Amino acid sequence: MSELPLNPNIQPFTRDDDAAAADAPPAPRYELANNENPLGPSPRVIEAIAAAPDLGTYPEYSDIALRRAIVEALGRGLSPAHIATGCSGFETLELIARAFLRPGDEMILSSPTFSGAYKKVALPLGARVRDVPLEAGSFRYRADAVLAAISERTKLIMLCNPNNPTGTVISAESMRQLLAGLPEHALVVADEVYHHFVDDARYPDSLAYVLEGRNIVIVHSFSKAYGLAGLRLGYCIAKPAIANYIAGLQRGFHQNKLALAAGIAACRDQAHVRRSVQFLRGEARWVCQQFDRLDIRYWKPAANFILFETRLLADELQRELAQRGFHLRAQTRNKLPFCMRLSLGTRDANQAFVAALEAILRGAG
Ligand SMILES: Cc1ncc(COP(=O)(O)O)c(C=O)c1O
Repeated sequence: MSELPLNPNIQPFTRDDDAAAADAPPAPRYELANNENPLGPSPRVIEAIAAAPDLGTYPEYSDIALRRAIVEALGRGLSPAHIATGCSGFETLELIARAFLRPGDEMILSSPTFSGAYKKVALPLGARVRDVPLEAGSFRYRADAVLAAISERTKLIMLCNPNNPTGTVISAESMRQLLAGLPEHALVVADEVYHHFVDDARYPDSLAYVLEGRNIVIVHSFSKAYGLAGLRLGYCIAKPAIANYIAGLQRGFHQNKLALAAGIAACRDQAHVRRSVQFLRGEARWVCQQFDRLDIRYWKPAANFILFETRLLADELQRELAQRGFHLRAQTRNKLPFCMRLSLGTRDANQAFVAALEAILRGAG
């Protein structure tokens, strides 16, 4: 291996089987780490997958039926030409990076954010990543600082909204300011995979900017409100010239038959999305009330997860929780050593989590 010319920007991966061989804790009873939808997918999706056609032949070459279903669900006068699909939101981010980043180009992100993924799609291309952090404590987006950091090499500006892991929103005013100052050679990537959950009047109408023909691409996923994280389906929305350019990187037959059938069925069951959103907003309110009762600091969530802070080191708290069967993510890597991110689960799971947290904090004095 050593004589092969390796790309220093590719981080060798510790695979799960390697991790399992090490001293990994037993599988958790409560998986509250991945911001999934505890209600899972619509029953219509399960039916569509069960009825999916012969897997011995290739799927349709074109994903046009899926793109039609997506724009019907989105409305707003979008056409299938505004959509490029990917095999997950993550892969969609990768297609966008590959389409726009050349060696020496820059991506700007604002930490704490979904940095691991953004770096993973940018660095192997020889691009540089510049961090213009959110305001400490409030996690407010600093559009003025981002604009000041843009150079001739800046191609992508990552705007995660609601932001993972903080759960906070970037306001319409910040996005307006950013787009107003954006040079022609830069593209805003609005990662809005949690958009369904937002109930905040300050949230920007980014689709309107796409329809105006601005340099913006919005990323959506079927992993969140649609409850289809296991299927790996996502897409982006941009003006047709950009969407078609990104689609130029898709592999032949890039969407498999199950994903096509399931994605279309999911788009046609918006009642399931509404139920999921209502349920998860209710759980967010309930958990926040519990955090208030326990005097735990948290950031008001606009998504299906909550960032909270305790006086324990988050890595330690993560271990304590793991021993009790809960998997949550400490935010140490995001330079928030006392913060954890809770993905909202069923009421049973959330109740059990709060009880475990209370016991741990009481035990810690
Ligand atoms: C902000 C953000 N963007 C994109 C993704 C990717 O989602 P997926 O690859 O499951 O579609 C995630 C997943 O957690 C996310 O949190």
